[in-house]
This record gives sequence, C-alpha cells and structure tokens, in this order.
Amino acid sequence: MIIARTIAELKEAKSALQGTIGFVPTMGALHKGHLSLIQKARAENDHLIVSIFVNPTQFLEGEDLDAYPRREEADRKICELAKADILFMPTVDQMYEHDELSIGAPAIRGYILEGQKRPGHFDGMLQIVMKLLNLTGADNAYFGKKDAQQLALIMQMVKNYFMDVKIIPCEIVRDEKGLALSSRNAYMSEEEKVRALCLSRSLKRATKLIMGGKLDTVSIKEEMLEVLKEADEVEYVAIVDRAFRPLEKVELGNTMILVAAWVGKPRLIDNIWI
Ligand code: PAJ
Repeated sequence: MIIARTIAELKEAKSALQGTIGFVPTMGALHKGHLSLIQKARAENDHLIVSIFVNPTQFLEGEDLDAYPRREEADRKICELAKADILFMPTVDQMYEHDELSIGAPAIRGYILEGQKRPGHFDGMLQIVMKLLNLTGADNAYFGKKDAQQLALIMQMVKNYFMDVKIIPCEIVRDEKGLALSSRNAYMSEEEKVRALCLSRSLKRATKLIMGGKLDTVSIKEEMLEVLKEADEVEYVAIVDRAFRPLEKVELGNTMILVAAWVGKPRLIDNIWI
C-alpha cells in the first residue's frame, strides 16, 4: 500500500494502476462501518483508494474539528489489511488555497434537516468530495446510507455536474445492540451509549407501527418521540420520501425516517429506509 500525502504523490501512485478504481472517502477513526464500504469497494474493483482527511470546511464554528478523533496508525493498519492500493492522507494546504471557487449545496435539499441544523456543512462536504472524486478518478465511489442526506446530495452533484463516477450506496452497520457505528460514538460514556440506543429503537418502533398498518406520519412521529425521551435533546424526527419531501402518509418503498439527537457530547443521527 502506498501512502500519498501530496497531490503529486497521489498522481504518481495512481499512474501505476490499470483497471477500475473503487474509492472510499473518510475522515478517519475507522470503524466497521467504514470497513464495510472499504471491503465492498475492494471486492467490486481492480484497485482501491481510501482517503482520510478531516475536512475543515464542513465543520461549523464551534463544532468538534480540533477534537475530532485522529488515529492515523490504527487507520493505516486497517487499510493495509483491507488491501488498499493507495491511502491518501493530504494536509489542508494540499487540498485548499485562499479565496477559492466553491460549490454550494442546493437551496432546498441542502438546507433542511442536517443542513438546517448545520448551515454550510453540506457546502464544505460537497466541495471536498468533488475534489477527491476528481483527484482519484474513481470509477465507483462508496458512501454510507447512515449519512442519507449527504449521500443524496453527492448523487445530485454527480448528476448536475455530469461527473463520470458511479456513487454506490452502502447499508448502515450497527453494533450488536443496534447503535449505528460512528467515529463520534467514542465521545460517549457507557451510560450514554445505552441511552443512545433510543435512536435505533425509535426507528424499530416506527417500522413495527408501519408493518401493523399505521401510515399516518404525525402519529408515527409522536410515538417515536416517546421512545426518544431518553436522549438529552431531539433535534428532528422526519419522515420524507427519497427526494427528501415531507410525507403525510408513509409510501412503502419510497420513505426514509430520519432522526438526530444529542446524547452526552455527540450529536447522533440514524435513519431507516422503508
Ligand atoms: P466519515 O464520517 O468518516 O464517513 C465516511 C463514510 O463512511 C461515509 O460515506 C459514511 O456514510 C460512512 N459511514 C459512517 N458510519 C457508517 C456506518 N455505521 N455504516 C455504514 N456507513 C457508515 O462522511 C464523511 O466522513 C465525510 O463527510 C466525507 C464524505 C469523507 C467528506 O469529508
């Protein structure tokens, strides 16, 4: 595995690759959720590039940019064992210059839910993902459904800018109790991790109600909020269609239920596709 820390090093390492390139962009502190994307990309392509870059432009003022977990040595081993061809770990200077051209998230879908709570987050996210997709020249790029809105916006960017890459959505990986894996789970105490299970439990509750024939989204949300009382603060519970339009009634095969809540230090998100 070649470790590239500059654009020049990445280009040189890439020039030796022939065949399809699978790419998994991450911010590091790799866990089994990341690993599932990496393994899928490895299995479906001739070559695998993984990137680790804690992207400053997608963190808002006062968010955890400085505290974001950094575990370079462990991450490097994981990528090596997963047989990555290239691990790209650039510095901020390599990726950004002063006063650059930027792309913006769409005015509606980029500014609801996560985008409403974290205005500007998706602009920075799309900016870095565009750069990384261009630099790696990936044929297939892998993203988790855990960040459902991020995934939808990346697919829209690729479509709107006619980018020549296929975006592959990947299933959410959870621990044995149901907690969706996240690098930020490391901020929680054991007691908080138990309370954090209320996010996935609220989604299970919603699924059960829907399977029982209840499709009215207002009452489903009310029942979810009961379960979510264990969280310190609920930011949103949303039931939307695949294009992120709010639904009055659940449409089987076209619905996503999304939650965001604070438990201890981290703000957690989870979702289920119905
Ligand atoms: P990061 O949070 O490190 O996540 C990298 C990728 O792993 C994302 O596509 C995310 O959806 C996926 N992922 C995280 N937890 C997962 C889980 N439990 N199950 C399945 N997939 C999971 O998302 C980012 O980084 C950044 O915004 C990035 C796209 C790298 C741009 O900076």
